Amino acid sequence: MKEFHSFRLDTVNHCLWHGEDRVSLTPKAFDVLRYLVEHADRLVTQDEILGALWPETYVNPEVIKKYVLGIRKALGDRHEKPEFIETFPRRGYQFVATVSEGIGTPSDASINGARKMVGRETAMAQLDGYLTHALKGQRQIIFVTGEAGVGKTTLVDEFHQMATRHPNLRVVRGQCVEGFGGKEAYYPVLEALGQWVRDSGGGSVVHTLAKQAPTWLVQFHSLIKAEQREALQKEILGATRERMVREICEALESLTAQDPLVLVLEDLHWVDPSTLDFISALSRRRGPAKLLVLGTYRPADVIISQSPLKALKQDLVLHSLSHEISLERLDESEVSDFLAFKFVDADFPSRFVNLIYRRSGGNPLFMITILQDMVKKGLIAQADGRWTLGVALEDVEPSVPETLDQLIEMQFQQLSAVEQLILRSASVAGERFSVWAISTAAEIDPGSIEDACDGLSERLQFIQAAGIHELANGQISAHYDFRHSLYREVLYRRLSEVIRSRLHLQLAQRLKAFCEPGELELASELALHFEGGHDYKQAIRYLILASENAAGRFAYRDSLEILRHALELALKLSPALRDELEIQVLESIGDAHFALGALVQSAQAYTTAAERARQAGLKTAQLHALTSAMYPMGFIDPDQGIATVEEALKVSMSVNDPTRLAGTQMLAAGCRLVFDAWSQTDANLYTSSCETLLRHSGLDAYQRIVYAHILVLKGNYHEALESCEGSVSRMGHGMSLMAYYGALSAKTSALLLMGQLGKALQITQAGRASPDENLARYWLLSFREAWLRTVAFDFEGARRICQGSGKVGGEYPDSQGETIDQMAAGYIALYGGKYGRAIEHFRKVLNPAVRTKFFRHWWWRLMARLESINTWLMSGDLSRAGTAADSFLESALSTADPHLQTLAWDLKTRVTMAKNDFKGARESIKQALGIVDKFEIVVAAWQGYATAWQLYQRLNEHKTARMNRERAETYIFKIANSFAPDEPLRATFLAAPPVRRVLCEKTVNKATR
Ligand SMILES: Nc1ncnc2c1ncn2[C@@H]1O[C@H](COP(=O)(O)OP(=O)(O)O)[C@@H](O)[C@H]1O
Ligand SMILES: [Mg+2]
Repeated sequence: MKEFHSFRLDTVNHCLWHGEDRVSLTPKAFDVLRYLVEHADRLVTQDEILGALWPETYVNPEVIKKYVLGIRKALGDRHEKPEFIETFPRRGYQFVATVSEGIGTPSDASINGARKMVGRETAMAQLDGYLTHALKGQRQIIFVTGEAGVGKTTLVDEFHQMATRHPNLRVVRGQCVEGFGGKEAYYPVLEALGQWVRDSGGGSVVHTLAKQAPTWLVQFHSLIKAEQREALQKEILGATRERMVREICEALESLTAQDPLVLVLEDLHWVDPSTLDFISALSRRRGPAKLLVLGTYRPADVIISQSPLKALKQDLVLHSLSHEISLERLDESEVSDFLAFKFVDADFPSRFVNLIYRRSGGNPLFMITILQDMVKKGLIAQADGRWTLGVALEDVEPSVPETLDQLIEMQFQQLSAVEQLILRSASVAGERFSVWAISTAAEIDPGSIEDACDGLSERLQFIQAAGIHELANGQISAHYDFRHSLYREVLYRRLSEVIRSRLHLQLAQRLKAFCEPGELELASELALHFEGGHDYKQAIRYLILASENAAGRFAYRDSLEILRHALELALKLSPALRDELEIQVLESIGDAHFALGALVQSAQAYTTAAERARQAGLKTAQLHALTSAMYPMGFIDPDQGIATVEEALKVSMSVNDPTRLAGTQMLAAGCRLVFDAWSQTDANLYTSSCETLLRHSGLDAYQRIVYAHILVLKGNYHEALESCEGSVSRMGHGMSLMAYYGALSAKTSALLLMGQLGKALQITQAGRASPDENLARYWLLSFREAWLRTVAFDFEGARRICQGSGKVGGEYPDSQGETIDQMAAGYIALYGGKYGRAIEHFRKVLNPAVRTKFFRHWWWRLMARLESINTWLMSGDLSRAGTAADSFLESALSTADPHLQTLAWDLKTRVTMAKNDFKGARESIKQALGIVDKFEIVVAAWQGYATAWQLYQRLNEHKTARMNRERAETYIFKIANSFAPDEPLRATFLAAPPVRRVLCEKTVNKATR
């Protein structure tokens, strides 16, 4: 560790120590200082620094000047007579202080007793013990609790220093912030991780995140290259809150397998719900990790805010998953120690200690504020090198206010008008504030603000310098921190409502002007200031953005909370303004519920939005809400869904917007085709409105999914798959999980009919393997798997899934599951020769009174008809089969589905064959195989060729028969080989009697092809 004067450059933790204090420097400022210190023997030019620290980016050299200024400020360097960094105008800089290779680490120094912290020996010993466990790979979750100013941060700082004694140990810190911080999902975790990622220069941390936690890496926009971002976006599609939490836990475990990590999360009384999820999950996992999480909070504030942190901590402590160190106020002897080291060689009356102790109640912050105040007023002064009390002891007590708040208040009164002005604005801006933010409200030039802040900082009053930071627009500005959050809180509380709201509003307007439209980063901060400034309209706008931001972190519950707050604010708006915004918020609530798979609530929110829009006469908004409502309703109540789009259609007729009309028409036709019945009129309408849309705006992500389903129904599987791909890549970051499932649903249907059963199975099984929120939506994919199993002749397996899915689906109707279940039961009876029973099962599917509409229900009913006819045929009831086959063929030909049509011609072939009408059979099979040639309908194809083989054998055309059998076999293996070699379904399929019959005919040695 390099040392100069009383400073130490800690290159492991990327920080600067001054004695026992951590000096706040931004990562870049630290890098500049480090570079200068490491080249202390010579002059370093600006170009050299730029080349070394900003390779490949263009940076204005002025930036370096700013950074150096910030560093010099942090070091307390004098302008006239620099002790640390000398500036050579137009040439560069040189570090001029003597640099030595430090031998003593800071923790050695603290062990020797030269610490600034008094007492806390037990707490430090406990922490040391926990660290020992952590170093052995037993993760530790520790909460340090106590009132404001009691010394939590001080203890953590001390521990931070002590911990860095261990080689390769990293400490990363994240701070919860008051106000908007609680609305930013994972705020402190992202801060700590971001610091780590930046410090590691894109090394192992980024690598691990890329491999194990892509949902996290993607949050660090500036760190990932454009092409990597795209790949990441693809990878995280359909992710959930659980996945995000799981990923970071796993990544942390990998990262701490070798080198230990201390993760400090400060001021958890302001924590966001997602960070709590993270802490909870991390604490409950059992694997090894050299990890110590240190969280601090004020219990009283947790109770007031009713944060779930309280319950979480109790639960964790109860199960011995975490420990609490509760800090009490200092006792009298500790106060005495404190005075002794603060005022070396002091000559105070003996009762002075007791007085300070009594007055402050042992709260260190109160105590230190009293003492600083006395020094400033000259009540305590140095005479002949000794500190003495300049007044009578009796006179001290009455001059000290009763409470810390009052003392702070009093100190504030004694500041100059400008200083008061600055601090008032600062208290609105936040615990850390920039000169830029103050200059907006205080109308003082930035230079004077900086001077005034530096003055306060030097006099140890209210604030301290926090270095130079980049603002969201790339501008650089000096920052300051309140010395303690209580100072800010006191100042903020004493502002009048009028001033407070004016300051919030000014700040909000400046902030808004300076971030790009649609920029999410500052959304919650802006919402807070607009709300504070009573501009509820803007506040709601930014809350909607903030909720999208949360969705980008898969924190949909946080989104909902933010949106509910927005609804509360909407009540304060005038009716004219309220309608439009409230409808927007309701739509966003519908989106968030939809994304979570809470379909009933989602549909409800959209319907409410539509009704509000109708009442307010806002047609476009009504149209939008009605179409949105269709998506959740399609899953839970297609009848109602179709009624909703029909209503949308009516509204869109009265809106003069051809694109919107086309969109609604397309959706309405699409819904009828998928959920109600196939009709050529609707199919044509669908195509023509789709073409209109494609010419104008193109299809959005949801429209593409419906489009894919229609394409599947027309047998255009490749196009359908492409449309799913396009839909998914368009949704991008934070896309709705349900939409993702919608795309998977279309994709699996296409794969299934193409005979890619193995691929489809992989998708449905991956859905089931994720044991989290996905489960509630798994029912959707499970129906695909049930269907798939019927195709592979695993009827029992199909039934098991259908009967189990009711439990998973819960609130969802399961007509689809019941239908496939009946089909599977029918097949079992049919192949078991129990024709009567088979017919009963198929009839249940056909009974229109029993089941309402559901996804592809008409298609399933056609399948039930087909299998009933098959049953009659197999049972020898030829007359019945004959008429039914003809009418079935007619029905199939009225659809656009080549799979159904092929099966219909195939059936007709077999019926005519059974009637010994070989001419008719020849004609029919020609029709069937003609369709097979044109589409990739592998499942129908093998059956068609198998029938052709039978037919030509009966006709004694053996060569043609053999050729057809081989074709059937090729298709059979196409299906079988789509499965993994050890997938049991492969064997089940190959062993099924109709399949085996085709295969048994060939020479034995081909069996393993
Ligand atoms: N044990 C201690 N010994 C000496 N000073 C302390 C001690 N604890 C706290 N302080 C002083 O009190 C102030 C407030 O403490 P801090 O750690 O910021 O409180 P908290 O984080 O609990 O709100 C600090 O500036 C520090 O100087
Ligand atoms: Mg603190």
